[in-house]
Amino acid sequence: MRVIITGAAGLVGSALTQHCRARGDEVFAFDREGLDITDERAVRETFKSLHPDAAVNCAAWTDVDSCELDPQRAFLVNSQGVEALATAARLSAASFVTVSTDYVFDGRRENHFYTQRDEPHPLSAYGAAKLEGERRAQAACARTSVVRTGWLFGQGGKNFLATVVERARRGEALRAISDSYGTPTYAPDLAARLRELAELDLPGIYHVVNAGEGASYEGFARAAIEVADISDVRIETVTADALPRPAPRPRNSRLRCLISEAIGLRPLRDWREALAEFSSR
Ligand SMILES: NC(=O)c1ccc[n+]([C@@H]2O[C@H](COP(=O)([O-])OP(=O)(O)OC[C@H]3O[C@@H](n4cnc5c(N)ncnc54)[C@H](OP(=O)(O)O)[C@@H]3O)[C@@H](O)[C@H]2O)c1
Repeated sequence: MRVIITGAAGLVGSALTQHCRARGDEVFAFDREGLDITDERAVRETFKSLHPDAAVNCAAWTDVDSCELDPQRAFLVNSQGVEALATAARLSAASFVTVSTDYVFDGRRENHFYTQRDEPHPLSAYGAAKLEGERRAQAACARTSVVRTGWLFGQGGKNFLATVVERARRGEALRAISDSYGTPTYAPDLAARLRELAELDLPGIYHVVNAGEGASYEGFARAAIEVADISDVRIETVTADALPRPAPRPRNSRLRCLISEAIGLRPLRDWREALAEFSSR
């Protein structure tokens, strides 16, 4: 498969680039410097010259609090940039996969796993821009698969888990939110599913997360510290309200997919199993 990957230096983009190369694909991987997705002309020309079979967008402005402070830029990257890619994919007759987020939901339903049947209702500028990106991509290219995912961990990029483990190793006290829940997901597992979906070319909205009951930030942090075998860690638990941040977050953004298994895709392994593998690397 000839595949364009945007946002290739990020957490998901780097895992996907590695996975596709290992599978023998002809990979055209672009970091932000290589291809800024907000540069419509560059996007169009890149697709025109490369004739990809598929494009997978892993580029996004993922700093949720900064997006809240600059919603215009959030919209430029996370909505318009995605639309530009989808349009270019359509013009090049390529399938298009774009990664989206659990933050399109407001998370007000407790003890619930959000599926495709739930109406999105983002609380933040980041979530709103990502949702608009989903919709624009679907309107611009009929061969669009939107992949919503949850709390990511893996090598590289910025992620909650890597920070927690590093701080714990340095002996620093940790603060973790005990009343917000999500579905931890291992970037390489997501990457493998992104490639499958690009190849499958069956448009729709997919929720792709590791299996299991999900976790609170505190539970996620404790599990990571346990598998990393770090002892004597002090964890102060806090509520989300006690940590004032510019952007509101959903209290419960656990995801489940109604479609994947129905079309024969195997559920991703339990997040704790993936965490153990990540930690042993
Ligand atoms: N991380 C999570 O927990 C999480 C949870 C749910 C969904 N997601 C979604 O997963 C996807 C991948 O996120 P990630 O965790 O891999 O994020 P990441 O590590 O921040 O990677 C995103 C990449 O996109 C690049 N980028 C930003 N603006 C760009 C532009 N205008 N043109 C081209 N590239 C640009 C960034 O480059 P710079 O670093 O140079 O800006 C970065 O390398 C995103 O769609 C995100 O919304 C993430």
